[in-house]
Amino acid sequence: MRPSKCILRAFTRLSPSRNAAFQPHPYRCINQNINSQDPYRIIKLRNVVPFCTNRPSSVTPQVASEARNVSASRTCTKDPTLGQTIPKNGFNVKPLTVERLEEDEKDEEVVDGDVRNIDKEGLESVRRKEIEEEAWKLLRQSVVTYCDSPVGTMAANDPTDTAPLNYDQVFVRDFVPSALAFLMKGESDIVRNFLLYTLQLQSWEKTVDCYSPGQGLMPASFKVRISHLEEDKFEEVLDPDFGESAIGRVAPVDSGLWWIILLRAYGKITGDYSLQERVDVQTGIKMIANLCLADGFDMFPTLLVTDGSCMIDRRMGIHGHPLEIQALFYSALRSSREMITINDSSKNLVRTINNRLSAISFHIRENYWVDKGKINEIYRYKTEEYSTDATNKFNIYPDQVSPWLMDWIPENHRCGFLVGNLQPAHMDFRFFTLGNIWSIVSSLGTPRQNQAILNLIEEKWDDLIGHMPLKICFPALESSEWHIITGSDPKNTPWSYHNGGSWPTLLWQFTLACIKMGRPELAEKAVKLAEKRLQADRWPEYYDTRDGKFIGKKSRLYQTWTIAGFLTAKQLLQNPEMATSLSWEEDLELLETCVCVLTKSGRKSCSRAAAKSQILI
Ligand code: GLC
Repeated sequence: MRPSKCILRAFTRLSPSRNAAFQPHPYRCINQNINSQDPYRIIKLRNVVPFCTNRPSSVTPQVASEARNVSASRTCTKDPTLGQTIPKNGFNVKPLTVERLEEDEKDEEVVDGDVRNIDKEGLESVRRKEIEEEAWKLLRQSVVTYCDSPVGTMAANDPTDTAPLNYDQVFVRDFVPSALAFLMKGESDIVRNFLLYTLQLQSWEKTVDCYSPGQGLMPASFKVRISHLEEDKFEEVLDPDFGESAIGRVAPVDSGLWWIILLRAYGKITGDYSLQERVDVQTGIKMIANLCLADGFDMFPTLLVTDGSCMIDRRMGIHGHPLEIQALFYSALRSSREMITINDSSKNLVRTINNRLSAISFHIRENYWVDKGKINEIYRYKTEEYSTDATNKFNIYPDQVSPWLMDWIPENHRCGFLVGNLQPAHMDFRFFTLGNIWSIVSSLGTPRQNQAILNLIEEKWDDLIGHMPLKICFPALESSEWHIITGSDPKNTPWSYHNGGSWPTLLWQFTLACIKMGRPELAEKAVKLAEKRLQADRWPEYYDTRDGKFIGKKSRLYQTWTIAGFLTAKQLLQNPEMATSLSWEEDLELLETCVCVLTKSGRKSCSRAAAKSQILI
């Protein structure tokens, strides 16, 4: 039976003042005595007892808790007029509306004044510069501070939005493009702070209905809450959300993966590798890796997750082994392998990582890849094959090859893509953009597959880019599929939001992939398209309709990762060498490692050699 204290706990979290002994917030910036030069070493205020579980907090190294618990505390006396739940905005200048008017007037001055004679190109470049300037201003206005240090950017910052829900929080995945924009501009403090403070939040004892998921989990988001102490004293509290408040209680599987990827990017761009060498940071990497690599009942090397565990954070039929998570998992493992300091205690983990990398890439390259030829093969599959050397290993019924796919897949054998998901008797043939793009960036796909994905995007430009880059997935689920798969989600109606909406934030990832594959012109074309509308449309979160013509039905405005994605894409195009340092080349050694050889099982069904020769052409 569920202990009634659980209810009390949930209640108390919302109302800390009801129980003085209960400390509901893991990290707080409280007052007095700055002892250390390291501001991240803050007292970890634990819940007195985990009410509902007796879970020992053993998992990872004492070192972690020791390193994290050395601490200082200090006073942040706050202005009593500050709202209690609004994140502190580090660079708040003037209200956006006023700024927009000023911008418009400036436009007129340009046209009516002495610039009249400049050619169209000149005007366009002035306009482009203005858009970029506005984007930077908005990005800075979205910065959230904790004890006077910038620690992230809030998801959306629309001053007219009266119901921001959790869009006033710093989302881990949303912060990545902001971080890259700041890093490439030479402003690394905010990124360093973000990495270290989110590390402090990692694995904090959280519960959902009396259950504590594994340690190592990174929160989906956090907010800086301001709570009243006494008279004019206030304290700031870092309050994470691990999914326990999120709509649908979704698990933020991608957060830890993004954290690792960003940590690597921080080192690459700043040249400061000392951050990743810190004991607490090393422990953080290992905790995430251990959580992802834990044994389970799974038969595949890919990561098994629930629906909505990534950017698509609601029911969309992507439970199981969705490509997006696999591509991020692969990238995070490659990053971890580069960053983990090898010693006696880490060498087994590194070996496990190498084996898993090898197995994931083999599995994805072999089994997720489709082009016209492969689709034809699936269309003619025999089913019910019982043997280790079955051709139709996953027992995919040919009827799953739906008519849209047969029409849509280009005749050209140089076009193809990785399917959205694969599990027993189930192949989700939808094209998921982030997973495909990130497979290019991380070299999860083969060089030939990576080029073929870009070829497909170019060939299917109207479907995948249309009026606004880029479609989150294609095609949309409609009619009974929409009813059954989304559970009749009114936000995810066909060609809206996650169900075939267009998300400008994906621009930076697309740009990274294009530069990596030597095709920046594709990204330039997409950026130009976005540039025409984003500012005028007030930087929406997403666009609706089949070709992305309309601002999304429920789209937030002044969405930070739209702004940051645009800026990052532009910076990458200006500094392609940065893009190179952020992506991964093919690792031939990984291809040599065959799990079948490693386990000495000698199974003749291992087709790695054949696959390798096919793949590396
Ligand atoms: C929505 C998106 C998610 C994003 C969040 C904050 O929930 O689906 O990917 O992180 O908004 O912008």
